[in-house]
Amino acid sequence: MKLFGLGKAGGPGAGRLAGGQGDEDSLQLGAPARELPNAFVLESPVPVWTRTFAITSWPRGAGALWESLLASQVAFRVRFLAAPSGFKWGRGMETRLRRLMANVESVRESDRAAAARPEEVLAIQAIRRIRDALLYRGLRPVDIWCLITVESDSPANLAADCAAVTAALASRGIEAEPLTFDQSPAWAATLPTGDPQLRGIHGLKPRTGIVTAAARAVPADTGMGGDGCGVYVGHDAEGRRPVMLDFRRESDELNSNALVFGASGEGKSTWLKAVAVTGMLLDGWRVIVLDVDGEYRGVCEAAGGTWVDLSGVTGRYPDPCRFADPSGDPEEDAARFDRLLAGIDDVMSVMLGIEGPELELERAVVEQEAAALLASSGVTRDDPATWSNDRLPRDFTLRAVFDRIERRGAAGDTWARAAAQRLWRYFKGSLAGLFERPLPMDRMPGRLVVLYLGNPRASSAEEAAIGVKYQLAVRAVWEWLRQNKARGEWTAVVVDEAQRAMQHPVLAANVVDVATTIRKWRGSLFLATNAPADLWGSGWGERLWGNSLYKVIFALERDQVDALARRVNLPPGVAQAIASQTGMKRAVIRDGGRGWIQVRLSLPDEELELYRTRRVHPGVPTEELARAEGDARGLRAGG
Ligand SMILES: Nc1ncnc2c1ncn2[C@@H]1O[C@H](COP(=O)(O)OP(=O)(O)O)[C@@H](O)[C@H]1O
Ligand SMILES: [Mg+2]
Repeated sequence: MKLFGLGKAGGPGAGRLAGGQGDEDSLQLGAPARELPNAFVLESPVPVWTRTFAITSWPRGAGALWESLLASQVAFRVRFLAAPSGFKWGRGMETRLRRLMANVESVRESDRAAAARPEEVLAIQAIRRIRDALLYRGLRPVDIWCLITVESDSPANLAADCAAVTAALASRGIEAEPLTFDQSPAWAATLPTGDPQLRGIHGLKPRTGIVTAAARAVPADTGMGGDGCGVYVGHDAEGRRPVMLDFRRESDELNSNALVFGASGEGKSTWLKAVAVTGMLLDGWRVIVLDVDGEYRGVCEAAGGTWVDLSGVTGRYPDPCRFADPSGDPEEDAARFDRLLAGIDDVMSVMLGIEGPELELERAVVEQEAAALLASSGVTRDDPATWSNDRLPRDFTLRAVFDRIERRGAAGDTWARAAAQRLWRYFKGSLAGLFERPLPMDRMPGRLVVLYLGNPRASSAEEAAIGVKYQLAVRAVWEWLRQNKARGEWTAVVVDEAQRAMQHPVLAANVVDVATTIRKWRGSLFLATNAPADLWGSGWGERLWGNSLYKVIFALERDQVDALARRVNLPPGVAQAIASQTGMKRAVIRDGGRGWIQVRLSLPDEELELYRTRRVHPGVPTEELARAEGDARGLRAGG
């Protein structure tokens, strides 16, 4: 909705609030105007200084707004803006309501003398009223904005008047947020409609209306309870205030990753599921989980996500023989053909399992044969119009590329023969079962995807095969990051059990790459480990720490605390807290700007239950799991 077609005020000291001549949409002003970061000056015969506030919260019952404004004895203008709302009651609101209720309950139980925080109780009431109105009374939601413009004749008077207004509002529990940008449009938005040819702000007739009628326009409830800016990460252990962290930080170039440290059983996975999965989804993000244990299955199902089982037994693997969907970024998209070839080449390189000049020559064979296969159905590097999955040869698979390499080798080509021999096990030998079912992953299948990777330390026979799958999975993740970014979406990547995931060279290298570049893709990485000292041992600690705006540290054993304190700057009190919060499910959180704070997630029982670790193979220890997977393959091959 275009309120006023205001021309841009050309910055401080210059500019006119005017559109083109004869443009009916525009507001024509005779007087020059100046826009300052937090005020707007209309240089009419008497300069008018204005500042506009948006009301961000008020208690039930709007009479207080008028009373406090009138009591403050300043000149002001109020404008309500209303529009039909797209708000729907859904799982997200249900979750928020349950969390709030659980927290209020837990305060009552833990300390009968302590009242629950009033704003949380109010938020619960507000959410329930909204729910009842929408679900049971069939009412329609409406979005309402309330802007208040204070006007004065000098900067000094403006400052005093604004202080009087905010104090008067605050005394009635109404919060008003000063607008710091776009003061001129904000100011204009508070003008009454119907007089686009404004002849000076003091020439306006006062509007006579009935206060109660206007008051009815004020929504009785605002704020959805802790839905401020960011994602709920726990309650402050001292103040019992909900703590929200902002992972978007649009203005920030820094990687806003979160590193999560803590001994086993201290609550890392619960935190990741509640914050990095549920919280980020509620905040509108897309979420990709790299799950080595299968323990994200429950939360994946509950959140309506897509579970992709890439573990050893299934024979499934992300298909590299497909074009990724275009992302909309011309430079990225110009490389789609090359990325397709490189994807096939990457996978085959891991299968070849060698290094040095030989690898280079055999890789060339792989790419030549893949390109030749593509060319056979007219898909060529030179013609981007042919880069579509519909045009791919029907049998364009890793196996088909291998068959061509094998034939070329049989025809006498030395490098093709060598490559075919090295690749043989994956296509005709014992590992063929691992690559039977290509999964198209050229676009992210939904808002939440859990890639169940299986155990990174399976038997050595499978090690290379597992590396191949990881490589493929990681390529899919990179493509999704690209595509989500192009759609203007934000993506969180979650890696739990990093002490194991990072033992795999393919995962480790890629996770560190994601950590250092994910900002470019509008994303955040969440990485949790129970052995932070190992990260420094393997040389990644510095890069992960340096690229993580947020550090979340649950209780750690003494030696881990000491090792960590040697590498990074932990204030003594923080090191002490980390060592002493054992068993309390508390974490100290370092927020880039705000310093350290101790928090604990307060979640309803049913949500906690949902996050409780339920492995895909309950109770089977890792070695046995690997053996079972081997057996399953044997059975299938035999039967
Ligand atoms: N904030 C919390 N409130 C209540 N129980 C919690 C909380 N955080 C974790 N737990 C419980 O503690 C146990 C261990 O948590 P988990 O997240 O699996 O730890 P970790 O991943 O660090 O090993 C689980 O049973 C979980 O339900
Ligand atoms: Mg865990």
